[in-house]
Amino acid sequence: MFITFEGVEGAGKTTQIARLASRLRAEGWGEVLTTREPGDGPLGSELRRLALHPPAGITVEPRAELLIMLADRAQHVGQVIRPHLAAGGIVICDRYADSSVAYQGYGRGLDVAEIARLNDYATDNLKPDLTILLDLNPALGLARQNERNIMEEESLAFHTRIRAGFLELAADQLERWVIVEAGRSAVNVEEEVWRAVERKCHGLEIQGSIDRSK
Ligand code: TYD
Repeated sequence: MFITFEGVEGAGKTTQIARLASRLRAEGWGEVLTTREPGDGPLGSELRRLALHPPAGITVEPRAELLIMLADRAQHVGQVIRPHLAAGGIVICDRYADSSVAYQGYGRGLDVAEIARLNDYATDNLKPDLTILLDLNPALGLARQNERNIMEEESLAFHTRIRAGFLELAADQLERWVIVEAGRSAVNVEEEVWRAVERKCHGLEIQGSIDRSK
């Protein structure tokens, strides 16, 4: 099973991914791999640095930024995500293809349909089974961040477009997405995420080792 988390900066993805992974492991749902984009592995960390912390004085063109994200994704899918899924494991990824549509499409203004096509190419059509959108007012999320990358230096209007983009993507594909209101306590968010995962597993007929009928 392939689960992705999406959302604006500071929505709490890192915390929720860690909680979900430990719960899945504790309940014996199988080998759980947590990972992220951009930046997994040695090539990924170079690409992440180029995209998010470019050398001083260099402005990265939106198309170049997109292609760096896609290069990272192609490498990540081929070398990390697909092998783990093929071995029967669960992959939880912090951001994936939808982030390119939201950030480079709705945020930077590149063509959304084109990005979707390029994502299909980069991932060789690997789609998540479930995408959790941790939805939050970006003004609140940005206030929670301390480390600043080039996205976090962007205006509130940029992040507001990204939030709206995520909500639009989710509304278009409700069978894959679950929208979770992320402004509440971490425990409440965790419970809602867990229920979404259980529902999806039920739909996919994936069972943990624990008998949940009792
Ligand atoms: P990160 O510090 O991991 O932010 P977060 O904790 O919010 O995920 O930085 C990832 C940044 O990269 C984030 O600002 C979103 C951006 N990004 C894109 O612009 N396009 C993409 O395709 C991906 C995967 C990320």
